[in-house]
Amino acid sequence: MNPGGDVGPSAGTGLAGTWRVPGRVNLIGEHTDYNNGFALPFAIDRHSDVRVVLRSDRQVRCWSAQESRQVVAALDDLRPGGVVGWARYPLGVLWALETAGVRLPGFDLWVDSTVPVGAGLSSSAALLAAVAAGVDEACGLALGRDTLVEVCHQAETVFVGVPVGRLDQVVVFHARAGHGLLIDFESLSTEQVPLGIGPLVVVDTAVRHHNDDGAYAIRRAECEAAAAALGVPTLRHATAVAVNDRLDGVLLRRARHVTTENQRVLETARRLGAGEDIADLLYASHRSLRDDFEVSCPQLDAVVGVACALGARGARMVGGGFGGCALVVGLEADALRAAVTRAFAAHDWSPPTVFATRASAGASRVA
Ligand code: GLA
Repeated sequence: MNPGGDVGPSAGTGLAGTWRVPGRVNLIGEHTDYNNGFALPFAIDRHSDVRVVLRSDRQVRCWSAQESRQVVAALDDLRPGGVVGWARYPLGVLWALETAGVRLPGFDLWVDSTVPVGAGLSSSAALLAAVAAGVDEACGLALGRDTLVEVCHQAETVFVGVPVGRLDQVVVFHARAGHGLLIDFESLSTEQVPLGIGPLVVVDTAVRHHNDDGAYAIRRAECEAAAAALGVPTLRHATAVAVNDRLDGVLLRRARHVTTENQRVLETARRLGAGEDIADLLYASHRSLRDDFEVSCPQLDAVVGVACALGARGARMVGGGFGGCALVVGLEADALRAAVTRAFAAHDWSPPTVFATRASAGASRVA
């Protein structure tokens, strides 16, 4: 990353504007991004808004409509791991920009979000990207979306300290309404894929999980161990034959998920282009995440089971897993809500939230 540029205190003060960035749902391609594989996510119609006001004193003040505490920090004091709570996301973006050589003036940042937190819908990437897009334009940096993806990724992996891949950052910057985004994580090239599939419904299981609690990092380390055992740089380059012949136990299961999931992503993109059904691919992805990658949970499995029984055109858990949301294709939200709510009540689980969504546009300025 080499953004360059220098914005001094003379950059001026006053309201710069408001930037909006959506959350995302991954249609297919889970835990493939950090293995340099493929994914096909889309942006949803829930978003983070960040209002940016320039300051000239290298101070930062952050407010959130969802939090009671205002956070104040000096740009010169920002250090990885040095901030706790929600403000480590906006402050992480500023740290990443300054680390890349940009000198910033200072900001007041007002945040408001409709993306549920910890639900696997990428509330963190929406917040990171809204700050990055806003600061970039407010300060006249013109870094470009690919550089902003890197800034956000640095903020989340180094400043916040969660070893995520680039799935969320790439899609929230590049998404187009009505389209999925086929991402190749080796080249970071993208391709817009029209999504001509029926209603898209999200079921939030109300089971909360954060990618920084260790389980995500363990999966990532297992994938790296499997790649090393096979003598390939990443599982992107592992063949199904080598995985089955040369691995066993946990590493076999993890690598089998990644290699088969990559194939499912490419086949999904092909079928969408040909107007063909993708239901079996979505269900197979869920089974692979449940049985081979072991990142599902009973609530997510129940949603997929109920959706299948109702005749959905595919359903699967989305995001890092261990809770969060499932995507259901081809059912109306009301019918699904009634059935899933009944199933959860029968188990005495907290009630789920069910809402229709649609493939939406990526980062934009709204005021
Ligand atoms: C989380 C991470 C992503 C990706 C998914 C799993 O959402 O932020 O980088 O690894 O999990 O596909």
